[in-house]
Amino acid sequence: MAIQQKLSLMIPGPTPVPEKVLQALSKHPIGHRSKEFQMLVESTTENLQWLHQTQNDVLTITGSGTAAMEAGIINTLSKGDKVICGENGKFGERWVKVAKEFGLEVIKINSEWGTPLNPEEFKKILEEDKQKKIKAVILTHSETSTGVINDLKTISSYIREHSTALSIVDCVTSLGACNVPVDEWQLDIVASGSQKGYMIPPGLSFITMSQKAWEATEKSNLPKFYLNLKAYRKSLLNNSNPYTPAVNLVFALDEALKMMREEGLENIFSRHNKHKIAMSNAIKALNLKLFADEKYLSPSITAINTEEMDAEEFRKTIKDKFDILLAGGQDHLKGKIFRVGHLGYVNDRDIITVVSAISNVLLDMGKITIQEAGEALKVTSDCLDKN
Ligand SMILES: Cc1ncc(COP(=O)(O)O)c(C=O)c1O
Repeated sequence: MAIQQKLSLMIPGPTPVPEKVLQALSKHPIGHRSKEFQMLVESTTENLQWLHQTQNDVLTITGSGTAAMEAGIINTLSKGDKVICGENGKFGERWVKVAKEFGLEVIKINSEWGTPLNPEEFKKILEEDKQKKIKAVILTHSETSTGVINDLKTISSYIREHSTALSIVDCVTSLGACNVPVDEWQLDIVASGSQKGYMIPPGLSFITMSQKAWEATEKSNLPKFYLNLKAYRKSLLNNSNPYTPAVNLVFALDEALKMMREEGLENIFSRHNKHKIAMSNAIKALNLKLFADEKYLSPSITAINTEEMDAEEFRKTIKDKFDILLAGGQDHLKGKIFRVGHLGYVNDRDIITVVSAISNVLLDMGKITIQEAGEALKVTSDCLDKN
């Protein structure tokens, strides 16, 4: 029986929360129209712009990541608009569902789960669109369901060549883990959620809006009320919110962003990169197979193919024995893969521990030798030391 208090979250969200952030959460709420809260909004907004590397507006919504995804669509597009959706996993599929729900005409660019989207397919369709009928290109940067990172930089450069289409991007598990320079890549709309790289519990989402995105809001006719971003923009001028925000989550956000600024963007990115390298090499040393194309591994999640072994049983054993929660496969991958989240408040000890736990269970199952278990730990610590 797992000891709940010691449960280690090695899933791609919710991610572990630092003590300082937990303490911030436990404070008494304050009035959301108070001067004190306005100061908090001013500080978090400035730090959110720093994190996104942007001068664009960054709006905070009380709602999970999907709220920001939906807001991106309903504020800038109109019924019947033609859009491209990249789909190479569960969250790409979600984009297609949201777009269709609002009556958009979707051109899908697919890639098999575990492989990245091909930027050249975006280029071709965008170049052929001489009449500029395509209003937006919608995709997921880090596909959490498979552990694949898509080449957003290149795809974004093709969107800019098209000149009129907006980019609408889910950076839910890439923001705060790897470089997402919103201004440099000229990303119009970027959505993310608090329970990921931000190191705070679920409940807040974030959306950046470029000038071009704001211009598109003038023509958009899709229904919206709570997620009407113009109201958020107007309130933000006064460091406020249109509705009652999750005040305590904003306390937590403020603390977490300060911690991130202290660590620095480059250090945050290199920590995630190091953990990605250590995990993927450990997995290979343990005779397991990476699910995703090795050249496109997400910095936040490693998906592991268990082949003939039941991944759900394996996860359960790890949880029961070591109080470590791993994520399972989604949809057709349930039972076939498990995923290790290494996003947010994760350190080298967490990586060594999860590799040791996986090795231990494989050893018990007779899948590896004691030498191989030792070798996997050596490989992990070498990667952690070197990177
Ligand atoms: C890539 C990606 N997009 C979107 C979401 C949805 O976010 P939420 O569950 O916060 O609505 C998730 C959550 O896991 C995600 O990983």
